[in-house]
Amino acid sequence: MALYSEKVMDHFRNPRNVGSIENADGVGEAGNGKCGDIMKIYLKIDHAVVTDVKFETFGCGSAIASSSMATELIKGKPVSEVLKLTNKAVTEALDGLPAHKVHCSVLEEEAVKAAIKNYYDSHGMVYDC
Ligand code: FES
Repeated sequence: MALYSEKVMDHFRNPRNVGSIENADGVGEAGNGKCGDIMKIYLKIDHAVVTDVKFETFGCGSAIASSSMATELIKGKPVSEVLKLTNKAVTEALDGLPAHKVHCSVLEEEAVKAAIKNYYDSHGMVYDC
């Protein structure tokens, strides 16, 4: 059996939504202290819906594939739903990651939550997630 699913390879080779957003409504960053990989995510939010999302990931292939899949999962979704995104959901959407690479998908969950917190903070809303 191949180590990586076809979906992981596809999102690694052709990552969706790469880049940054000028005047983003929420920006979040997360880093993995062990490997030093970093993910930054930019959200455009309109009427509590994520209308656009871009990411920059300086990391391994699994982190890039997870980031790409996460952006696909949250684009067009209400903020309340985006807050429920877990690295498990992202990993499942990728048809799995090798056990020793699952930690790479945690980056994107943390970065997305940090971006929403940044959005809440800048709008004077209470973030209690
Ligand atoms: Fe660092 Fe994958 S090895 S996030």
